[in-house]
Amino acid sequence: MSTPMLTALVKSMRHEADGVVSLELRPAQAGSSFPAFTAGAHIDVHLPNALVRSYSLLNPETERDRYVVGVLLDRNTRGGSRCVHEQLRVGMTVPISAPRNNFPLDLAAPCSVLVAGGIGITPLMSMHAPLASRRMPVEFIYCARSRREAAFLDELAVMAQAAGTKLTLHFDDERSAPPDLATLLQGHGADTHLYCCGPGPMLDAFEQACASLAYVNVHTERFAAIPSSVAPADATGAGSGYQVELRRSGKTLDVPSGKPLLDVLLDAGVAQDYSCREGICGACETRVLSGEVEHHDSILTKAERESNKTMMVCVSRCRRGTLVLDI
Ligand code: FES
Repeated sequence: MSTPMLTALVKSMRHEADGVVSLELRPAQAGSSFPAFTAGAHIDVHLPNALVRSYSLLNPETERDRYVVGVLLDRNTRGGSRCVHEQLRVGMTVPISAPRNNFPLDLAAPCSVLVAGGIGITPLMSMHAPLASRRMPVEFIYCARSRREAAFLDELAVMAQAAGTKLTLHFDDERSAPPDLATLLQGHGADTHLYCCGPGPMLDAFEQACASLAYVNVHTERFAAIPSSVAPADATGAGSGYQVELRRSGKTLDVPSGKPLLDVLLDAGVAQDYSCREGICGACETRVLSGEVEHHDSILTKAERESNKTMMVCVSRCRRGTLVLDI
């Protein structure tokens, strides 16, 4: 990975809810500060077991002396969240990436609605702060399986009360049902911006509800790849082989069937950024100059895909012919 790493000290760890801990990370070098970030950003944390995981920053973007993230012990963990919960300890240092933001706020929106599902509350906590400090109309909907599993609930209630934010809570076990998002989201103007972070099924329900209500300013942040985007054929770059021309480097490479474009670039000595390899972190986003891209990431919007300006080279590929990249 070509982006320089930062070294962070685990300053504190706190139990926040059933299965959720928060990590407060400080610059390892005392007296220094971290790079600035904007609300909605995430960092990649290089864990002691060599896995790399992306976590959204939950603290206000005005803070430069620390990054705070929340980590859910995932029932289907592939080793990342278990490592955080069981191996990471206060006083350890970990390499982290600089923040990257695939989920930015539109501060010009006349009204914003923040919808959180479970641990998806983390970027939305950070996003509430700049809206509240600008006294912009904002509504917050927080859904979780139960109160015991709802992290940062007290903090959110205090923040919402101080800012006059309408806060709606939904706990599946108390209602014996998942949230009815079409009902919860109705009544907003067409210029409202709606943001959702949470598990995949909730994001799908959110997008369907927004479509049924004819909302167009809809933003989502996924922390797991869309299942179809990592189906074996797609993730490995299967399909027919193609050529990729690297315009600035003056190289032309063959991408064989079954090999991810990212690996072809790395094998050729290209200093290509990457992290998750699943199309969810945005680290490998690359400018496309020409070529028909078959997108398999979970980041780009429909409009961004259609504009054909960038692609995630870890999971996306060229549909046919030759791909020309600005590398
Ligand atoms: S490496 Fe994360 S999107 Fe490609």
